Amino acid sequence: MRPDVASSFIIETLPGLCSDQEHGDGGFALPDASIRCLREVIDRLGLKNVFEFGSGRSTRAFLEAGCAVTSLEHSETWLAETARGLRPEELARWRPVCAPLRQIWHKGAPFSSWRPAPDTVGSLSAAELVLIDSPPLPPSREHALILALRHARGALIVVDDANIPTVRRYCTRLARQNHLAMFQTRMDHGLCFIAPQFGALNEARGLGDFLRVWRFFLIQRRFQR
Ligand SMILES: C[S@@+](CC[C@H](N)C(=O)[O-])C[C@H]1O[C@@H](n2cnc3c(N)ncnc32)[C@H](O)[C@@H]1O
Repeated sequence: MRPDVASSFIIETLPGLCSDQEHGDGGFALPDASIRCLREVIDRLGLKNVFEFGSGRSTRAFLEAGCAVTSLEHSETWLAETARGLRPEELARWRPVCAPLRQIWHKGAPFSSWRPAPDTVGSLSAAELVLIDSPPLPPSREHALILALRHARGALIVVDDANIPTVRRYCTRLARQNHLAMFQTRMDHGLCFIAPQFGALNEARGLGDFLRVWRFFLIQRRFQR
């Protein structure tokens, strides 16, 4: 998808597809209204190729919509759970990739994220829609968003859990400093839609956000002990 097509879709069409009055929970999974919205986006833009960070209900919805789907997932168990109930014809269009989360350094800030293998980067580059709904702890998804903006140059990017202030903050920062069209809805867990980047990517974060990443990392490590 061309960045200008994604930008005008984000600005002109998306606000009419999302309702801030919908507050489904869904636990770990994307709630009904978010699934309906993503299905509508796929239909209206005629998208065929999806990459998702995480897997589950969203995987089934994208496959039902007729897309080819790559899911990057850290949990073998969860991938098996996602595979249950998929039809052979859907399994043929699904590329599950299991890779462990590891500590990744980005500009002096630590993230629990992926270092994708070249063929996974290839799938990300070919995607027309990227859903970022993992790692399970949403503040860590900033690195997944950077990977998507770096590599998925023809994709509409969607981040879930944007009602969490940290998530909203890094989505807004990366979109603003790269002059990318963005739309955020408070529907369900909060979805943030960002247009793809076509020039050099500004990945910088200010001191406040740098310290926030470290704070989250230290809290997370304390709970993991
Ligand atoms: C927010 S979930 C991804 C949800 C997915 N996009 C969906 O719509 O179902 C992020 C990750 O949490 C893990 N996960 C999903 N459901 C879980 C559950 N019920 N309990 C524990 N972990 C879960 C999986 O590793 C998944 O990729």
